[in-house]
Amino acid sequence: MKIRVFDSQYEAGSYAALLAERTILAKESPVLGLATGATSIPFYSALVQRRHNGLDFSRVTTVNLDELVGVGADDPRSYHYFMQHQLFSRVNILPENAHVPDGLAIDAGAECVRYDRVIDAHTPDLQILGIGGNGHIGFNEPGDALLARTHVVRLHQETVAANARAFPSWDGYPSRAITVGVTDIFRAARIVLMAFGEEKADIVARAIKDPITTHIPASLLRLHADVTVVLDRASAGRLSPAIMTRIDPKDGWLTEIDI
Ligand code: F6R
Repeated sequence: MKIRVFDSQYEAGSYAALLAERTILAKESPVLGLATGATSIPFYSALVQRRHNGLDFSRVTTVNLDELVGVGADDPRSYHYFMQHQLFSRVNILPENAHVPDGLAIDAGAECVRYDRVIDAHTPDLQILGIGGNGHIGFNEPGDALLARTHVVRLHQETVAANARAFPSWDGYPSRAITVGVTDIFRAARIVLMAFGEEKADIVARAIKDPITTHIPASLLRLHADVTVVLDRASAGRLSPAIMTRIDPKDGWLTEIDI
């Protein structure tokens, strides 16, 4: 696992976008695994900027991690809506190449099976992740066991509350989601986990240093061969001195270390 700490989330998002651009340029049919949420916004802004500078998305396939059950693409709470506004409508990706689970599927179980087929056909070269305050990745919530493949999950109360914060005037927020499983995430050749802000500092430190456990799903990422954790200074604030003293300030951002 590598860790990079940047002065700001904008520089961090820009670095993640650089990695995505390298993947797009290196592959004939590049596949990006994508996340939603506040953490991903600087990344999408930087990707859109790269599109303005000529980056071509016409060969790119994207596979999103999750969608809320019961909301459609025209509902501002849905991840379809988020992706449409943050990325899909702003780059030249072909609509048929942009995959998000269908939160309105009448048979959610069948939708999970369908989505796993999408992942089987389009396994991400690069997977972008955020981390929940409770350590979830995708919507694989902490527990005694985790599921391998796409499934319907009941979101933990703190996750519903965190998601609902962006919609203060909305009455009721979906409490179920379709999420890819941990094995689906692990199939990506490379994973970039982003976390920004002081409120993520504690879970970031625990995911990196506590024993690997299903009760902190992000800690499992230490078992993957190619993971880069991209932080701003605030989210890196609780990393142990032993880690932080190995990160040297350089050119406005802090360099990468292996742990
Ligand atoms: C959403 C997802 C989640 C978020 C996480 C952090 O697609 O995969 O794991 O990345 O809940 O959300 P923010 O960035 O809003 O703090």
